[in-house]
Amino acid sequence: MWLKSARYLDYNAGAGLNPIVQETLRELLGQKEFFAANPSSRHRHGQRMQHLLYKAGLQVAQSFGSQDPDHLLFTSSGTEANQTVIRSALAQGMTVLIGAGEHSASHDLLSEADSHHYPLREVRLLPTGQVDLGQIHNLLSEVQLSSGKEEELDANPVLLSLFWANNETGVLNDLEAIRATLSELRSRHPEREFYLHLDGAQVWGKLVLDLEASCADFVTFSSHKIGAPAGTGVIWSRVKNTDKSAHFKLKPLLIGTQSNGLRGGTENWMGIVATGVAAQAQTRETVESFQEHTGALRDRLEKRLRESGLPITIWGEGAPRVANTSRFSLDSFKTYENWVELLDLRGFAVSHGSACKAQVIEPSRILLKMGATREQALNSIRVSFGPDSEVSDADDLVAQLTELYHNKRKT
Ligand SMILES: Cc1ncc(COP(=O)(O)O)c(C=O)c1O
Repeated sequence: MWLKSARYLDYNAGAGLNPIVQETLRELLGQKEFFAANPSSRHRHGQRMQHLLYKAGLQVAQSFGSQDPDHLLFTSSGTEANQTVIRSALAQGMTVLIGAGEHSASHDLLSEADSHHYPLREVRLLPTGQVDLGQIHNLLSEVQLSSGKEEELDANPVLLSLFWANNETGVLNDLEAIRATLSELRSRHPEREFYLHLDGAQVWGKLVLDLEASCADFVTFSSHKIGAPAGTGVIWSRVKNTDKSAHFKLKPLLIGTQSNGLRGGTENWMGIVATGVAAQAQTRETVESFQEHTGALRDRLEKRLRESGLPITIWGEGAPRVANTSRFSLDSFKTYENWVELLDLRGFAVSHGSACKAQVIEPSRILLKMGATREQALNSIRVSFGPDSEVSDADDLVAQLTELYHNKRKT
């Protein structure tokens, strides 16, 4: 069994541990001759650790459609991966445009824009939940005018930082439209370089990936979304940092000699080994079966919700979405009702939105940016199915929610 609880419907927050990861770690740690040495050590124990890291890099690269682990950097989280890319751009004086729908792991950097005088701006969302690419031209002119350094900024490179799939709604940004926008920007501003960072945390294991064929220069990931423990993230870079042709280089957040000087600190070998094994399990077959299985459950859930007569709004329905995610609001409530806790008491683990914000009940920023009212953004539920979710999970959830709704209406 992938997960112990069949009613765990919060797969986007954390996928639990893939049994293959548990088995591999148990076997490795149980070996009598295994000694957990420092991968930087020159002796055989250190070299063995280096080999484990290399093997994990290869497994991860293969899950990205590549054979070359030298394009990867392991970090402590998806958050660190995102911030390494964005802060590297800022450190090199680049203009950075961050989508309004980004995870707080990137979006929170916007709060530093004014105090640090960063040329950093937010690109708004369309009601579909996708980024509004049409706004980019205006934002670039606005950054130049407001900085008073029009000429200086005229030629500085630009980093666009966008989600691939949104963690709250499952909405996929339109990569073909992004590719077209980038090529238009490049022909309009031949003096400037344009780079694209995609936050891929919510597509690993959910889409068949071929990063080289994508239009991204950097893609970042988080290991606990695919069944490895939390505490590891990955950056994939199109051009290796050591490559002389790399104009935009990653800069370490932590100075040190490890990871080719890109990230100080002895490597988290256990997290990296686990990530490699979890990545290897993301084959075309498993991804396609995840899509088929969870897509059918998501469609069933939404159909049942509509049939239930509950006043609901489903967010991102008009856009392509990852198969497993449904985000809906229960309309007609004036104040926040604690749906997540009430459903938890009935055995269902769902989410209010982004898990990282879950301690503070505030209206979802993403839904507000998509046009939701404050009440809708407060009274919303995210259901994200996983490989072990069952038809009864979808059906029973709707039945319980309907009952809760009518109880609330009576009180
Ligand atoms: C889209 C997205 N980006 C980044 C992150 C952050 O990853 P981590 O929890 O590894 O810091 C998450 C985690 O929820 C996510 O969903």
